[in-house]
Amino acid sequence: MNTPTPARFSGKLALVTGASRGIGRAIALRLAGEGADVAINYFRNRPQAEAVLKEVERLGRRGLLIKANVGDEDDLRAMFEKVGAAFGGLDFLINNAASGYNRPALEQKVKGWDWTMNINARAILFSAQHAVPLMQKRGGGVIVSLSSIGANHVMPDYVLVGTSKAALEALTRYLAVELAPHNIVVNAVSAGYVATDAMKYFSGTQAILADPESFAGERIPAGRMVTPDDVAAAVAFLCSPDAAMIRGQSILIDGGMTLKM
Ligand SMILES: NC(=O)c1ccc[n+]([C@@H]2O[C@H](COP(=O)([O-])OP(=O)(O)OC[C@H]3O[C@@H](n4cnc5c(N)ncnc54)[C@H](OP(=O)(O)O)[C@@H]3O)[C@@H](O)[C@H]2O)c1
Repeated sequence: MNTPTPARFSGKLALVTGASRGIGRAIALRLAGEGADVAINYFRNRPQAEAVLKEVERLGRRGLLIKANVGDEDDLRAMFEKVGAAFGGLDFLINNAASGYNRPALEQKVKGWDWTMNINARAILFSAQHAVPLMQKRGGGVIVSLSSIGANHVMPDYVLVGTSKAALEALTRYLAVELAPHNIVVNAVSAGYVATDAMKYFSGTQAILADPESFAGERIPAGRMVTPDDVAAAVAFLCSPDAAMIRGQSILIDGGMTLKM
């Protein structure tokens, strides 16, 4: 008789930032679907976060809703205190939340720089500081942060987010080395275009959103758009023991789009 395969992340405790929508939602549901309890961070959209919580619970897992602006240090500390109080530890931290001011370099202001960098880059460093004691209680852990092709390619009006993602990828390398003695694996997942709410605010993507099949047929060797589930599958792989020897990398999920000139 075949015995059922145990869920890969059974008993694991995860925190996914920006899990109310888009890619973060897909990651939260993927990890819960594979057995993890999931803390769902959101910022502005409580009803959507509540819907994700319901789905996590429907999968038979424990969920926890946490409102926090990850760009605010007090909110960040309170978020990890809530995780500690409810879960008593943490196995997976997924830094998915992102925001940014999209406009040309010469029109950017200090306010937009601070906002974008604090949410997309500063939060990665200080979340790691808060996560390590919780992961030590579990004997180690995994941190995966979400990057984008704007970290190493130039996209229209994307100077601040691209720069923040470049910082995120550098932080990923430093943290991979410095947290390794704590048995914490640190990596990033980068993605090409994924049709989420965020894409509506990227400059020059209206044509892609209007006809994604034509864009994919012409520009993506894999022949289709990357989906939130594609990205979530890569995040889940990096959380698994199979990825234990991958450290400080940014794994690109773009269907081969950036290979083409
Ligand atoms: N979509 C793409 O094409 C693409 C490509 C490459 C990489 N990525 C990366 O993938 C990640 C998710 O992108 P997405 O497209 O799913 O974005 P999205 O649809 O815009 O969703 C953003 C999520 O982040 C949350 N959020 C925003 N600001 C926050 C803050 N200050 N504190 C806490 N949460 C905050 C939002 O929460 P509320 O709704 O509750 O405010 C929402 O859940 C981002 O890191 C993004 O850079 C996306």
